[in-house]
Amino acid sequence: MQQKSTHSEIEILKAALSHPGLINNDDTAIVLYNLQHLTGKIEELKELFPPATLHAIAVKAMPLPSVLEKINRQGVGLEAASLPELVLALKAGVSPDKVVFDSPVKTREEIRFALQNHVRLNADSLDEVARIAEILPTLETKSIIGLRINPQVGTGTIAITSVAGDYSKFGVALRVHRQEIINLFIKNTWLTALHVHVGSQGCPLPLLIKGVKAVYDLAEEINLELARKGRGQQITSFDMGGGLPVAYHPTDNPPTMQQYADILQQTMPKLFDGTYRLITEFGRWVHLHGGFTVSRVEYVKQSTANGGVNTAMIHLGADMFIRECYLPEQWSHEYSLADAAGNRKSGEATQKYMLAGPLCFQGDIMGRNIALPQIQAGDWLIIHDTGAYTLSQWSRYNSRQMPKVIGYNGNDHEWEVLKPRETPEDLWRFWKGRG
Ligand SMILES: Cc1ncc(COP(=O)(O)O)c(C=O)c1O
Repeated sequence: MQQKSTHSEIEILKAALSHPGLINNDDTAIVLYNLQHLTGKIEELKELFPPATLHAIAVKAMPLPSVLEKINRQGVGLEAASLPELVLALKAGVSPDKVVFDSPVKTREEIRFALQNHVRLNADSLDEVARIAEILPTLETKSIIGLRINPQVGTGTIAITSVAGDYSKFGVALRVHRQEIINLFIKNTWLTALHVHVGSQGCPLPLLIKGVKAVYDLAEEINLELARKGRGQQITSFDMGGGLPVAYHPTDNPPTMQQYADILQQTMPKLFDGTYRLITEFGRWVHLHGGFTVSRVEYVKQSTANGGVNTAMIHLGADMFIRECYLPEQWSHEYSLADAAGNRKSGEATQKYMLAGPLCFQGDIMGRNIALPQIQAGDWLIIHDTGAYTLSQWSRYNSRQMPKVIGYNGNDHEWEVLKPRETPEDLWRFWKGRG
């Protein structure tokens, strides 16, 4: 793995380090998040899809309230995968009709809460549809209710984020339950949406298209069946999920959103002509390239026992990079190195390093045999492309303090602390609870 060629993130780090009071000695690690990038991505989505499309950005990718509020100000919505994510979305000010609640394990109380708050709701199972049917007569709601389908079109290259295989813990398996699903829509007139999500990262474009198409065909079949019975169009919303893959490395060559939108329009024209209200749930594509993370190198451990590969001891590991530590073959980042003042270290990357975190277990190593210029204590290790699914996967093991998150606008270095660094008192409160 090489150093990332772009210099801009190092320049941002350098400017942040020299900005008075922004980064202090306690900030052993910092997340930097480009707010202009976020704005640009949302604008791109608006341009590529029909104007009526609801872009419900996945909260799980980046759940900071200050970021969610900015997403809301851009007029798009949020997708929530749990009750707290749903509360975050509503607290961020997002109008309920722009919030999609997708948790796969909703309790009766959670369903009731969602319906009372009029958010969009996707049932994940046939049993959940039955629960919703029980609860609906007990309250007034404007919620639009859909059913998540597993299109069973296959898995991508990453098993843990592929959810459209023959077996998936998500949704109702299409091949197994097709007729049951159709009957369910015939019976329940309040079921007016279908939902599909094929996977996140590692799913090639043809697989994403195949999954969406399988559920689009189902929507068409159900609407046709209802028309034959003299009923009007019942399925009016189509939620195609997220999952467009993104580049982590220069050799990655993911499809563009433009390509995805073009193929969707060609193969499923009714998603674009107003027949269905289209809903998207992108997360990684929106956030990934907007964020990078830095950690000070506290020590460099010389090692003869490891074939001469020394170990840079840094302040982040499996607390923030859980997938990178447990599944390094599938999840990894590009790295760069800067000195204590933020100047790029551009010497030849002749030495390889282990990048070891601060947690109390041996697996807490986010990078192995990484070629970098010579590292010294006090340097900053830059971990690129961390805007999605890193901070949001924060682990509480060893009670580490979540780092400060600094927002900036493109290259003009207008700083905004999006979240202060956690204090030890914050951790005390976390473990103690409200008591
Ligand atoms: C139901 C659902 N929607 C949307 C997403 C977002 O996927 P991505 O961030 O890959 O776009 C996920 C990710 O796991 C998901 O499970």
